[in-house]
Amino acid sequence: MVFPYTSSTANSISSAASLPPRPYHRSGHPTSSPTDGVAKCSAVRRLILVLVSMFIIFSCIISIAWLILKPKTPLFKLDSLNVSNFAVSESKHIISGNFAIVILMTNPNKKMNLYFDNFDASVFYRKTCLSMTSIKPLSLEKMERTSFAAELKANSHRSLKREELKDLGEKLRRGWVDFEVNMWVSTTFGAGNWLSMKRSMAVNCKNLNVIFSSSSKSTGMLEDQIIENCVVVYS
Ligand SMILES: *[C@@H]1O[C@H](CO)[C@@H](O)[C@H](O)[C@H]1NC(C)=O
Repeated sequence: MVFPYTSSTANSISSAASLPPRPYHRSGHPTSSPTDGVAKCSAVRRLILVLVSMFIIFSCIISIAWLILKPKTPLFKLDSLNVSNFAVSESKHIISGNFAIVILMTNPNKKMNLYFDNFDASVFYRKTCLSMTSIKPLSLEKMERTSFAAELKANSHRSLKREELKDLGEKLRRGWVDFEVNMWVSTTFGAGNWLSMKRSMAVNCKNLNVIFSSSSKSTGMLEDQIIENCVVVYS
């Protein structure tokens, strides 16, 4: 029983030995290289898989945190707008003036602080920017409401389009002009020390009717208290 078994084994060994050499030997590559490469490949693949799953899990945690915290857009409202040294030259198509604004800001978030890192404000008449200023960074605690004042000087004379100017002259004769205040704010929403999100927003405060009551029409102030909040658009 044992003998035929061993003989068959011996046969198979001898037939294996008589096989032609493997192509790897002929091409000169070491025989161990393909298996090593496969091992390396699967290790890299496993590492990528781990990294990708970690990234997905981390993103999920962040998304769930935001869903729970529900970040709300800050509220902006123009509290005051005074104009002085207002001058319009219809013949030269130019307009200039100094503007003093007070902006009321509210953080409607119960669980998040807001940081306004980059804050620019400007006064517009129609599409023309009359004056612009940068406001120093400020922060708003949870549910905090605060106001800030800014002076926008007549840094240069701005030229208006012919039809805009005609329109403006007409309004000024009737004693009022509707200005706009636009702001560009880069806001960081922060919860605790580890969770923060940066968003840029454009704030548009429209239909700010300024009454010029003096005969010279060079100074004016807001007609009524503004009730509406400015429109905020994320960019
Ligand atoms: C605008 O003028 C009014 C009246 O003179 C004054 O009470 C208010 O503080 C002024 N606002 C600004 C922003 O200067």
